[in-house]
Amino acid sequence: MSGDASALLAQIAHIGVDPERGGYTRPVFSAPELELRAWFIAQADHRGLDVEIDGNGVIWAWWDAPDARRVDAIATGSHLDSVPGGGNLDGPLGIASALAAVDVLRERGIRPVRPLVVAAFPEEEGSRFGIACLGTRLLAGLVDPQRVRELRDDKGVTFAEAARGAGLDPALIGPDAARLAAISAFVELHVEQGRGLEDLGQSVALAGAIIAHGRWHVRIDGRGDHAGATRMADRQDPVVVAAETVRALRAHALVVDDARGTIGRIKVTPGGTNVIAASVDLWMDVRHRDEPAVRRIVEEVTAATERSAAAEGCTVKVTEQSFSPTVAFDNGLRERMHAVLPDAPVLDTGAGHDAGVLAGVIPTGMLFVRNPTGASHTPAEAARPEDVAVGVIALADVLETLITR
Ligand code: GLV
Ligand code: MN
Ligand code: MN
Ligand code: MN
Repeated sequence: MSGDASALLAQIAHIGVDPERGGYTRPVFSAPELELRAWFIAQADHRGLDVEIDGNGVIWAWWDAPDARRVDAIATGSHLDSVPGGGNLDGPLGIASALAAVDVLRERGIRPVRPLVVAAFPEEEGSRFGIACLGTRLLAGLVDPQRVRELRDDKGVTFAEAARGAGLDPALIGPDAARLAAISAFVELHVEQGRGLEDLGQSVALAGAIIAHGRWHVRIDGRGDHAGATRMADRQDPVVVAAETVRALRAHALVVDDARGTIGRIKVTPGGTNVIAASVDLWMDVRHRDEPAVRRIVEEVTAATERSAAAEGCTVKVTEQSFSPTVAFDNGLRERMHAVLPDAPVLDTGAGHDAGVLAGVIPTGMLFVRNPTGASHTPAEAARPEDVAVGVIALADVLETLITR
């Protein structure tokens, strides 16, 4: 079905279903994500788009202008990887809508005067290797390629090994200034990850800003021992310290207006009911509009964890994995988007996106599609087919103005 993003999403609704967690688990370069990448390439081929895969594993599907020169291009797209137990929309909605928008523009008889390219970026979620928006960070030269090659997933597989498994050459991972220079603007459509549009009773919004956010790995080392034979006074239990990290993050984020602090992943080693743990790893996500507020919360949580560790006879190491400053999307591009979508409200978001990384290097904008549950990173994430259809037309309208002059 041409121009129907919901039908495209239905085609991939069986891929990466996670019976244990519910929803979808599609880590970058895993079997389900590779299946999604193959599906995207097949869809691009089916539309006569020319597919290139760059050294970082970004898939680019080109609708060339008549002169076939790949300069001054307009890019759109999103990602195919998911969080553990996520929905089918965070990422894939932007890919399916981009393909559907190409169909709509062709049905309109549009002849681009500059190329349109649909991109699928790897590891947007950072769910497998820890750094969010890794594909765009690599592309833009914002992360050291060697550090990325050596990143390990929780099974010990390196990014380089996973990339090789996806058919990439790890030697080619790294910045690609020439490719970026060929793109004049990027527009990402994404399911809204809050209730803004539902509360306003509207279908689509333009993005105003993304709040600053970062990730920190907290490692607490203690002394493993026997749960029955070790007196309470003799313990060096890292789980007790981890509890203080969790409590301190909640307390410090609560007192800063509109801050977000989350620990959604904890690993206790060795992880036995009758075993005092030897170590705990926690991954902490902190967000706020003001960058210094994020830094302050992390400092306070670190200090509270260190105090608790000292009392318990444990040690702590806090390492920053990634940090994204507050992003204000390009005003000029937003004005052009507003001219074709005059009723769309402008919403800021607490969620990170590849568009946020690209906004630092090229004019970038985003469209959000209403999510009636307001939930995301859970199987409860939703979008009504009518809103998806409105989103496709909105994206097509925006792309039309950008590729025809
Ligand atoms: C990704 O979706 C994030 O906001 O962490
Ligand atoms: Mn996303
Ligand atoms: Mn996400
Ligand atoms: Mn995101």
